[in-house]
Amino acid sequence: MTGTVGIGMIGARFMGKAHTNAWRQASIFFDPPLKARLRVVCARSPRVHEFARRWGWEKSTTDWREVIEDPEVHIVDICSPNNTHHDIAIAALEAGKAVCCEKPLAMNSEEARRMVEAARRSGKLHTVWFNYRRVPAIALARQLIEEGRIGRVYHFRALYLQDWTMDPAVPLVWRMDKQVAGSGVTGDLHSHIVDLSNYLAGEIESVAGVSRIFVSERERPEGGRARVEIEDASVFLCQYANGAIGHFEATRFANGRKNGNIFEINGEYGSLYFNLEDMSRLWYFDSREPKHIQGWKRISVWEEVHPYMNRWWVPGCAIGYEHTFANQAADVLFALAEGKPVPPTFEDGLKCQLVLDAVLEACQTGQWVKVKKAE
Ligand SMILES: NC(=O)c1ccc[n+]([C@@H]2O[C@H](COP(=O)([O-])OP(=O)(O)OC[C@H]3O[C@@H](n4cnc5c(N)ncnc54)[C@H](O)[C@@H]3O)[C@@H](O)[C@H]2O)c1
Repeated sequence: MTGTVGIGMIGARFMGKAHTNAWRQASIFFDPPLKARLRVVCARSPRVHEFARRWGWEKSTTDWREVIEDPEVHIVDICSPNNTHHDIAIAALEAGKAVCCEKPLAMNSEEARRMVEAARRSGKLHTVWFNYRRVPAIALARQLIEEGRIGRVYHFRALYLQDWTMDPAVPLVWRMDKQVAGSGVTGDLHSHIVDLSNYLAGEIESVAGVSRIFVSERERPEGGRARVEIEDASVFLCQYANGAIGHFEATRFANGRKNGNIFEINGEYGSLYFNLEDMSRLWYFDSREPKHIQGWKRISVWEEVHPYMNRWWVPGCAIGYEHTFANQAADVLFALAEGKPVPPTFEDGLKCQLVLDAVLEACQTGQWVKVKKAE
């Protein structure tokens, strides 16, 4: 297939900007056979009309059903809050559209399972915006693991650290509203690092954890105080099917940390370390090197040979956060033209959600919980 594909995007704030930029950049920098056409954008507020004008969308609406009914929309791009993903994705798939859905895929694994079933029935492309898989340094980590450079994995440890809700005066916005977000840092932050663990370390079989609500009551944006029902912080241990063990920490109370997404993997022959705050680097330790020159190697992931980097700037001119979305949008445009799937698919979204459900249960019960199987 060549030509253009109409994008219908739902949600027009943080991710709405990131995705609009991504579709544009992907079409230009990657020159895929199918180029994105910014057909229609939807949000709840009439401010969406001004957004459409400024960001170059042909049409705008406040009713997401109009996006799905538009015959010139081929890809429905969901970047609205978590409680909207299920209904919009299923309606879009049933209308024969491809669907790119923000993370977490759903509010819980029951919803995610229905979304997977709808995706399979439709035969259309489906992907989840776990954009960190497309950080070139993380894609390189996966390549090194596949090349056998660290051997069998023993440990995966990951942190996702933020601090934006520490002030009790921060209102109870949708991310802290259980009815809209489903959970707190579990769906929001653990979802990313659990997906990275699925991508890099293997299948998690069981989990045990603790979580905390540090500020128990907040002001609603529309006025009035409400009890906070979602967790501000969560820490869990896990056991992998391949025998590895791991631990994960996600919090919005890590004073001074804005978007600290960090992992380390220790394997039989070596280790890998990544920190999003220095996202062009991948650290690699190779214990098979002669002892006298052993040490952590800081790889600057900006050479043409590195994942995605031949599409961007010359070595040394680093890329950033926005490019992870552009890299994924490009993969979608190529895959659609070639009739191929784009990981992470809805199946991957469900696998992640099953771990998140187990983490929530483990934190609530204080017990080890087995992760249910996707099939
Ligand atoms: N991949 C990432 O790194 C990443 C980062 C941030 C957010 N997210 C995810 O993206 C999604 C959106 O988050 P955000 O930060 O952009 O939120 P946001 O609050 O900035 O924007 C939400 C948008 O959705 C619109 N919206 C809400 N309900 C709607 C409805 N019923 N119909 C149509 N539009 C509706 C709002 O009008 C708004 O434009 C969430 O699922 C979130 O978890 C992912």
